[in-house]
Amino acid sequence: MPIPSSAARTDFDAYLEALGRKDLLRFITCGSVDDGKSTLIGRLLYESKMIYEDQLAALALDSKRVGTRGGELDFALLVDGLAAEREQGITIDVAYRFFSTERRKFIVADTPGHEQYTRNMVTGASTAELAVILVDARKGILTQTRRHSYVAALLGIRRAVLAVNKMDLVGYDPAVFAAIERDYRAFAARIGLGEVVAIPLSAVDGDNLVDRAASMPWYRGPTLLRHLEDVEIGGDDRAAPFRMPVQWVNRPHQDFRGFAGQIASGTVRAGDAVRVLPSGRDSRVARIVTGDGDRDEAIAGESVTLTLAHEVDVSRGDVLVACGAPLEVANQFEATVVWMHEEPLLQGRQYLLKIGARTVSATVAPVKYKVNVNTLDEVPAERLELNDIGVCELGFDQPVPFAPYAENRTLGAFILIDRLTSNTVGAGLLHFALRRSQNIHWQALDVDRRVRAAQKRQRGCVLWLTGLSGAGKSTIANLVDKRLVALGRHTYLLDGDNVRHGLNKDLGFTAQDRVENIRRVAEVARLMADAGLITLVSFISPFRSERRMARDLMPPGDFFEVYVDAPLAVAESRDPKGLYRKARRGELANFTGIDSPYEQPEAPEIVIDTTALSPAEAAERIVAHLEQAGVLAASPADRTP
Ligand code: ADX
Repeated sequence: MPIPSSAARTDFDAYLEALGRKDLLRFITCGSVDDGKSTLIGRLLYESKMIYEDQLAALALDSKRVGTRGGELDFALLVDGLAAEREQGITIDVAYRFFSTERRKFIVADTPGHEQYTRNMVTGASTAELAVILVDARKGILTQTRRHSYVAALLGIRRAVLAVNKMDLVGYDPAVFAAIERDYRAFAARIGLGEVVAIPLSAVDGDNLVDRAASMPWYRGPTLLRHLEDVEIGGDDRAAPFRMPVQWVNRPHQDFRGFAGQIASGTVRAGDAVRVLPSGRDSRVARIVTGDGDRDEAIAGESVTLTLAHEVDVSRGDVLVACGAPLEVANQFEATVVWMHEEPLLQGRQYLLKIGARTVSATVAPVKYKVNVNTLDEVPAERLELNDIGVCELGFDQPVPFAPYAENRTLGAFILIDRLTSNTVGAGLLHFALRRSQNIHWQALDVDRRVRAAQKRQRGCVLWLTGLSGAGKSTIANLVDKRLVALGRHTYLLDGDNVRHGLNKDLGFTAQDRVENIRRVAEVARLMADAGLITLVSFISPFRSERRMARDLMPPGDFFEVYVDAPLAVAESRDPKGLYRKARRGELANFTGIDSPYEQPEAPEIVIDTTALSPAEAAERIVAHLEQAGVLAASPADRTP
């Protein structure tokens, strides 16, 4: 950025510079719907003069039109600024608002109190240093209050303000305030919210927000704004060891290769010895490049581009760390997960997990327990529902450099993303790496896929038949199997009913049992294909997510999804095992197509329309497809990747 000449400097520049020198407090406000949060924030903005004239005019107008204050300024309208929100009566996103006083700058993350939106609270809290927990004096501490406080503490916030609002509606009674404060302190102490300051407020009247309230002479503590200005903020993570996740590799031309990212902790200087993780390669910092030119030093929170003295491999998602204090690298963890989606988290299902600048594939196995936020009891659980907070074990598909969240908020926090919809469905933080992940290594084997393929003169692969019960999967798979064997091929058929008699006899038909059923058979199919077999799998496998997982276990081109398509009415009319009849009579729960979903394949390699083809024709078509794909080639070794 060019520095303006002194002549061109304006009052505004001076103002910005003065602002730049003030320290910054990031805080979050949480409360239930109607606790008065918007009014409180609106007032703070107003009192700190962060509202422009035109906004004020609009506010006055809105207050008359839709306000709830009999035409007087309704500060809530300032914050709940969107028409749609007003109509729905809820605020639906995290809004970051900036204001500033003589003493300090503030960024407040305003998160809606509606139960569905724990997600926003997590987003807002992850960068905050203090939480303002709003309660309605008439209602006291609610489950919601406890959940928000718990999440805030979990995300590393150590300071809280208990803002007891609407004191005017309880006659400014000090006994009411004292009881709520006592309740809250007892809870806060148990969750590690160390420093709590309780303040009685009436946000609509501005009592104890900025000025002391004549209505509550018994209260001797600071006003809210005063406390926000005075509260000690701190922890200097410049002194911590250097860590920087690489956001992208900047290579504009042959002579420049820089690694860009935001420094998560510590200080870096030109000449420092750094290590690239997870690869473990060492080098030295050659240059620290910024928008304002090269620097000798950069600190936590700054975004920079580093160049290294050696040609080492660095990719997006890698972490650069101080050689003297590297990070741990692991692929199995214990973690806390906050679940934020209507569809529950299922043990065994794969999710995308984003940590630092890296995205990996992660499986939850198992959920250990969930936390009752009221009693803080650990409740046994196999899945997490919307808003549940649980402790789980997580397995990643690759080793990842990390730090426990308690040490580093950037390198210990993650989000979980649904693989198919790309929705963020959970957030969490890593506690520690499981020891077993450090003690189990990949063993290099000399007899590999290639050798086995050459020996069997075929390419091991997976032929995955999916469809409703009664669609004809088993019949067709059986015919394909017979034909292949007649052709001298080496095969194996894994059939749902059969595998459920052995390996999977502990599993039923709930969604999570089906996920586990498919996870196991997909792993077995992979092993069999690895051993060189043409492996047929005939399972209903109703969920896209797990079929995708099975596919991703295989090298590209070695997984053939066969959709054995029969409309429900047709499958039901066949009803070879009488199960549809039982399900319709209510004697069989969770039956696919009746009261348990079947998600049709979106891009299967082969579709068999069983209303148009006989089983023999279907089998012929499948074998022809395999032939074309080169699986049955005479010298398959040549075609193996
Ligand atoms: S899957 O959904 O988990 O893939 P899988 O293919 O292993 O199912 O097992 C399906 C077989 O179990 C069906 O062919 C049927 O014979 C039997 N079965 C028993 N109960 C159910 C049920 N509730 N839903 C579906 N199939 C069931």
